[in-house]
Amino acid sequence: MTGTRVPLAGVIGHPVAHSKSPRLHGYWLRTLGLPGHYVPLDVDPADLEQVLRALPKAGFVGANVTIPHKEAAFALAKDASETAARLGAANTLIFQPDGSVYADNTDGYGFITNLRQSAPDWDPASGPAAVFGAGGASRAVIDALLQAGVPELRLTNRTADRANALAAQFGPRVSVIDWQHADRAAEEATTLVNTTSLGMEGQPPFTLSLAGAAANALATDIVYAPLDTPFLQEARRNGARTVDGLGMLLHQAVPGFRAWFGKQPEVTPALRDAVLAS
Ligand code: ATR
Repeated sequence: MTGTRVPLAGVIGHPVAHSKSPRLHGYWLRTLGLPGHYVPLDVDPADLEQVLRALPKAGFVGANVTIPHKEAAFALAKDASETAARLGAANTLIFQPDGSVYADNTDGYGFITNLRQSAPDWDPASGPAAVFGAGGASRAVIDALLQAGVPELRLTNRTADRANALAAQFGPRVSVIDWQHADRAAEEATTLVNTTSLGMEGQPPFTLSLAGAAANALATDIVYAPLDTPFLQEARRNGARTVDGLGMLLHQAVPGFRAWFGKQPEVTPALRDAVLAS
C-alpha cells in the first residue's frame, strides 16, 4: 500500500445490477467532495472467498454484501461486530490493513434509525410489535426491535416452519401466529412491520387486515418500490402513522461509508430524490 490510493468500495451481490447502493454512495462521495469510487460487483457464490481475498490488494477498503452472500461473507470474516455475530450475517465489510475482513451488520441499525428519525415520538416499549414475514430481512428487523425494547413480538409467516425456526433463535418475547390468523398478530400492536415481498412491484399485494392495531400505531414496510405500499395504505386506513422503507436502505449505508471514506454522511431529502431517480 502506498497510502495514496483512491479508496474503493462496492456492493457484492448476485445479481447486483438493480442495487441502489452505487447511486447512494456515489451521491455522498460527490456532494462531500471526497476521493473514492463505489461500484457494483456481481460475484458468483463459488468465487466469494477468492474475491474477498483479492479486493483489499486492489485498493478496496470495504464492501457491502447483499443477497445471496450475507451469511457466507460473515463466515469468511476474521472479526465481526456483536450484531453481525448475533445475526450470523453481514451486510457491511471493512477490510483491515492486513487484508482480513471485519464484518458488521447495519440492517437493524438502518431500520431503527429510519423509524426514530421519521417518527421521533415512536416508543418501541409502548406495546406489542407485529412482524409479517420470516425471510432474510426479518431476522435483522426482529433483532433490532428486541434490542430497542419491544416487550412482545408476534411473528407471522406464510410458511410456518420458517417462522418457528426464526422465533426459536430469539427467546420468549417472540411468539408465532399462524398465517391463517395473521390479523391477530396486529391486535393492539403499536408497531407493525411488513418484511414480506407482498406489495413489491410485480408481486401480489398485501391483503391482510390490520384493523385490530392500537390507535396511533407506527407501521413500516421494508418494501420501497413502490414507496406507498398496500401494507402502509391498510395501516393508514386503521389510523396508523406510516414510515416508508427507503429510509432503512439509506440509513444502513451510513456506518460503512463513514468507515471507508472517513466522513459521516447525512440522510437528507435530496439523497432520497437522487436514489429514487435511478
Ligand atoms: P428476504 O430475504 O428479502 O426477506 P425471502 O427470504 O425470499 O426474502 O422472504 C420473502 C418473505 O416474503 C417470506 O416471509 C415469504 O414467505 P415464505 O417464507 O412463506 O416464502 C414472504 N412471501 C413471499 N411471497 C409471499 C406470498 N405470496 N404470500 C405470503 N408471503 C409471501
